[in-house]
Amino acid sequence: MGRVIAVANQKGGVGKTTTAINLAASFAAAEVKSLLVDCDPQANSTGGLGFPRDPDRFSTYHLLLGEAKAEQAILATELEELRLIPSHKNLIGANLELVSVEGREFRLRNALEFIRNQFDFIVLDCPPALDLLTLNALVAADSVLVPMQAEYFALEGVSELLDTIDRLRQSFNTALRIEGVVLTMYDDRTILSQQVTQELKKHFGEKLLQTIIPRNVRLAEAPSFGKPALLYDVRSRGAESYIRLAKELMGSQVTHEIPDPANK
Ligand SMILES: Nc1ncnc2c1ncn2[C@@H]1O[C@H](COP(=O)(O)OP(=O)(O)OP(=O)(O)O)[C@@H](O)[C@H]1O
Ligand SMILES: [Mg+2]
Repeated sequence: MGRVIAVANQKGGVGKTTTAINLAASFAAAEVKSLLVDCDPQANSTGGLGFPRDPDRFSTYHLLLGEAKAEQAILATELEELRLIPSHKNLIGANLELVSVEGREFRLRNALEFIRNQFDFIVLDCPPALDLLTLNALVAADSVLVPMQAEYFALEGVSELLDTIDRLRQSFNTALRIEGVVLTMYDDRTILSQQVTQELKKHFGEKLLQTIIPRNVRLAEAPSFGKPALLYDVRSRGAESYIRLAKELMGSQVTHEIPDPANK
């Protein structure tokens, strides 16, 4: 049975999509069957894997509205073991269209049920809001991975997310776990990053993952080539760090970050 990981943080631009794409790709590169589900109307995961906009293609929208089965929406990607369920901006309408539907929080969970056993990992890229789309992702997930930047007010937003997860556990999905908090766009040269990291360690303890994602221009460039970083520049620090994150989540040994100034 596939492990479903929702990548969520209601704050915008913290690295959810970059994490979702590169984590799913790193699982696939380790020859683990992985599926990325784009749950965001911005469709950045879809574009980042090289799929142009196409309103006629089956997408997460059709899954939530019950107009398509998950297997009809699955697309093959450049990586043998990576599949994608794309999104489209019409997904924004699902928030309203589902508002009076009974069991509206369970639509994605139900849609993925039939294909879960075909994958080892299913990664859900959430929008920057605690809306019905993110709720659907959290109810469908076994665990939540929270990307966060090491900046001063980061904790304030995350406590709201953690409160939501607590409430959700009680009302819908009692088994939802915190997979971990991953620091993104990290700049180890600043004292502030180091101070904030110490604070986050105190706050999250073991939930703060060992792997830290550095700020790396290759990670920002890769989506415009429609590729995960490991197909764009596998030796970049960005690609390497996501490979390490995937290993950490798969339960392998990880070594601590050793910054290599020779790397890009
Ligand atoms: N480690 C990194 N190094 C450099 N740039 C990064 C890194 N991670 C993300 N970025 C860039 O930062 C921007 C925001 O990242 P991303 O789209 O992954 O965030 P997001 O949380 O998904 O945003 P949204 O909330 O809008 O969905 C993008 O331009 C992305 O390319
Ligand atoms: Mg995003």
